[in-house]
Amino acid sequence: DWNMPDYVAEAVAAIREQVGDEEVILGLSGGVDSSVAAALIHRAIGDQLTCVFVDNGLLRLNEAEQVMLTFGRNLGVKVIHVDATEQFLGHLVGVSDPEQKRKIIGREFVEVFQAQAEKLPKARWLAQGTIYPDVIESAGGKNKKAHTIKSHHNVGGLPETLNLKLLEPLRELFKDEVRELGIALGLPHDMVYRHPFPGPGLGVRILGEVKKEFADLLRRADAIFIDELRAADWYEKTSQAFAVFLPVKSVGVMGDGRTYEYVVALRAVQTQDFMTALWAELPHTLLARVSNRIINEVRGINRVVYDISGKPPATIEWE
Ligand code: XMP
Repeated sequence: DWNMPDYVAEAVAAIREQVGDEEVILGLSGGVDSSVAAALIHRAIGDQLTCVFVDNGLLRLNEAEQVMLTFGRNLGVKVIHVDATEQFLGHLVGVSDPEQKRKIIGREFVEVFQAQAEKLPKARWLAQGTIYPDVIESAGGKNKKAHTIKSHHNVGGLPETLNLKLLEPLRELFKDEVRELGIALGLPHDMVYRHPFPGPGLGVRILGEVKKEFADLLRRADAIFIDELRAADWYEKTSQAFAVFLPVKSVGVMGDGRTYEYVVALRAVQTQDFMTALWAELPHTLLARVSNRIINEVRGINRVVYDISGKPPATIEWE
C-alpha cells in the first residue's frame, strides 16, 4: 500500500546516495525488469548510467529497434547496441540439445557483455533488475531450474569477474509493483505488460539445431500471432503466448502446386506462477485468422498447429 510518486522520489534519492558520482552499467534485455530498472536508474543518475543491449540473433521481430527507440531516442538513455548475431549463431551450429544450447547462449552473453564492460573502465556498478521473487528463489534454492534461469538472466558471476558492485533497485518489489513503477516512469504500456521471454530467446523455440533461416521464419510467424492476440484483446488474457518452429516438413497445396514446408506450433497459456499452466482456450476464429495469415504471409510455413498440453506434464516452452 504505497504511493507511487513518493516511492519514485525515495528510490531515486536512495540510488543517488548509493552511487554518488560513480558510473553504472546495466544489461538491458527488453524485458520488464531490466527495462524498469534502467528507467529508474536513469531518472536518478542520468548519463552516469550506460546500458548494454545484446542482440543475440534470437530476439523477436523488431525487438532491437524497439528497445533502441524507447530507451535511446525517447528516454535519452545511453544504450550501446551490440549486434552479436553471428557470434551466437556461429557457436550454435551443429548443436541440438536444449540444455547445451542454453549453456552456449548464456556463456556467449557473458562474454559479449564483459567485453563491453571492459570498454567502460569508469564503471563501478553493475545494475540488475532483480525483483523480490528472484531474491526468495535464490535464497531458497528449492527450484533448481528457476535458479539456473535467474543466474543466466541476471548475469551470474559477472560482478566478481568485473569487480563491480551490485545495484539492485527493484529487490523489494513484486512484479505488479515493478509494472506500476514502470508506468510511473513513463515506459510504454506494451513494454511494461509484456509476456516473459526466456533468456535464450528463440534459441529454445526452434527445436533442435538453430539456423538463421528458421529464426527469420519463426520471428514473422510469432509477430503475426502476437498482433492478432492483441487485436482480439486476448494478449493480456494470456500469461505467455508464442510460436514454436518445428523443423519438420509436411505436404500442402497452394494454388495448383504442391508445397513441402515447415510447421509452426502456437502456444498460449494461462498461469499464476508459471509452475503449472493451462493452455488458453483461444476462440477458433482467432486461431483461424492466425493460421491463415501465417500460411499466406510466411513462405516456408505451410502448416500451423495449436498446442493443447497443460503443464504438467508438458512445460510451457518446448525445450
Ligand atoms: P517451462 O518451459 O519450464 O517455463 O514451463 C517456465 C517459465 O520459465 C521460462 N523459461 C526460461 N526463462 N531462461 C529464462 O530466462 C530459460 O532458459 C528458460 N526456460 C524457460 C519460460 O518462458 C516460462 O515463462
